[in-house]
Amino acid sequence: MNINGAPVIKLNELNLSYANGKNIFPVLEGIDLSVQKEELISILGPSGCGKTTLLRAIAGLMPFTSGTISVDDRSPEEARRDRLFGIVFQETALYPWRTVLENVLLPFEVGENHIDKQEALKEALNTLQTVGLLGFDNAYPSQLSGGMLSRVSIARALVYKPEVLLMDEPFGDLDEMTRTWMNMELLRIKSEVKCTIIFVTHSLQEAVLLSDRVIILGARPTRIVNEFNINLSERSESSVDMREFREQVEKIRKALTDKWWQ
Ligand SMILES: Nc1ncnc2c1ncn2[C@@H]1O[C@H](COP(=O)(O)OP(=O)(O)OP(=O)(O)O)[C@@H](O)[C@H]1O
Ligand SMILES: [Mg+2]
Repeated sequence: MNINGAPVIKLNELNLSYANGKNIFPVLEGIDLSVQKEELISILGPSGCGKTTLLRAIAGLMPFTSGTISVDDRSPEEARRDRLFGIVFQETALYPWRTVLENVLLPFEVGENHIDKQEALKEALNTLQTVGLLGFDNAYPSQLSGGMLSRVSIARALVYKPEVLLMDEPFGDLDEMTRTWMNMELLRIKSEVKCTIIFVTHSLQEAVLLSDRVIILGARPTRIVNEFNINLSERSESSVDMREFREQVEKIRKALTDKWWQ
């Protein structure tokens, strides 16, 4: 995969605790992470360890306790204001009463508007084409399959042409075959729009298939317990049956069995 230039995201000694009244609830502990431009990294870790919290902190949606985060040399809040992020949330957050097109247009309706209606419409239709949904612009979410709903969420996150795409288990509800198909679609879309991606998943197979690098988090309060560079001679739907792919998955699985819960 084509990775170039300096890190676009840098986390340095990041700590984050939630406060519940007088109780402090530590979640992230000393996270150091650099993500290069156009890199795709996956984050794996046990349920409740802090993966969503980490994405929200990077996106400037969650204040952190100490340490630093910079995104393209900006604070997360500045980066959010400058619309550097597209976010696909863990729960599909589409509005059922709005059409596909109206859902994709939503980001243009919140915050400051830098774009006129006709331009917004053009961008939304272009993005629907990128995700392979042109022709479904007037359909409602209830009329779409799971894979198509995922595409709408991705289109909505991409409509602003963000530099960074943050994805929180976006394909978790899909069956295995549809998920693999969507993984391939994501790689195709990424090669078209050229963004940096942080991808949270519970699936080791998905992480290996998609990523340049897999980051493993430990139990809460979480820190990075391991990371793996992924080298595959090709990435396709049949990669999952290839020996090199299975070896990478097994290597990580083995390392996880002794590290996951520590
Ligand atoms: N707003 C909040 N206030 C207090 N505690 C919170 C809040 N949000 C999350 N937590 C707690 O922080 C911890 C990490 O939550 P988070 O949602 O980041 O985990 P996760 O790794 O994304 O889990 P999962 O894999 O189940 O999605 C959990 O113990 C959760 O209960
Ligand atoms: Mg989560």
